[in-house]
Amino acid sequence: MGAPRPAAFGILPSPMIIDGKLIAAKVRSEVAEAVRALGAVGIAPGLAVVRVGEDPASAIYVRGKRKDCEEVGIRSVEHHLPATTSQADLLALVAQLNADPTIHGILVQLPLPKHLDERTVLDAIDPRKDADGFHPFNVGALSIGIPGTPRPCTPAGVMRLLEEAKVDPKGKRALVVGRSNIVGKPMAAMLLEKHATVTIAHSRTQDLAAEVARADILVAAIGKAELVRGDWIREGAVVIDVGMNRLEDGRLVGDVEYAPAARRASAITPVPGGVGPMTRAMLLVNTIELARARAR
Ligand code: GUN
Repeated sequence: MGAPRPAAFGILPSPMIIDGKLIAAKVRSEVAEAVRALGAVGIAPGLAVVRVGEDPASAIYVRGKRKDCEEVGIRSVEHHLPATTSQADLLALVAQLNADPTIHGILVQLPLPKHLDERTVLDAIDPRKDADGFHPFNVGALSIGIPGTPRPCTPAGVMRLLEEAKVDPKGKRALVVGRSNIVGKPMAAMLLEKHATVTIAHSRTQDLAAEVARADILVAAIGKAELVRGDWIREGAVVIDVGMNRLEDGRLVGDVEYAPAARRASAITPVPGGVGPMTRAMLLVNTIELARARAR
């Protein structure tokens, strides 16, 4: 980060590769320690994961989240409902989990089948058990800076990656590409909270290349394979790639063209092994924070 690197003999030094797998393992060990401390005062953190239908990606994500819980000693309970589940039955399950004192965090895996209204379901989760930070109360709390409320896991994971890489957003131009409620919008709020000058670009942005070229910190979260061209990246920029796209040849790539971006960046996250593991790790952090908050 900071000043552009010298191009000695036309060869740029390699960028720092921000290792999300390693940092996520560190976060998990911190969480495991926190779980032991909670156990010592008689609290066993519990996470309920609700999955509806047979979305194959959701099945993989949920399996990964539960495996992480097991590793750190968080009790996880999966409720897998059929794709034909009615809105009333799903809301009844959420109400039951809201009332269950052994459950500290609730996560409803998205996307839900088309006949279910995601917003209504997410709004029904008790904001004090909102492991994803998607409830309007917690979204509002982030936006006006109320501390101690759960925050969406992917942008929270990105902030931890920046911290570990010693990248201070203060005063930097940060560009978030993508404006989803899950990543783009909360990402912008968290970067703003750390005093970055934040721009949000999206599918209607007129000149994405020009926006990217100005950014000291780029967070790409559009979900389109290699949409951000490597030669758009500003020399010395920090590149965080939230994308995870499967190409026809089976390769997994991010939203940024990696090799040419890595030649210009001062630091960059790989795909896979960058942001992905952090999203899972931050869910564990949210769960123990919710358990701690209840204990208070
Ligand atoms: N589907 C894709 N990402 C997420 C996430 O972060 N939380 C939930 N609940 N569902 C998702």
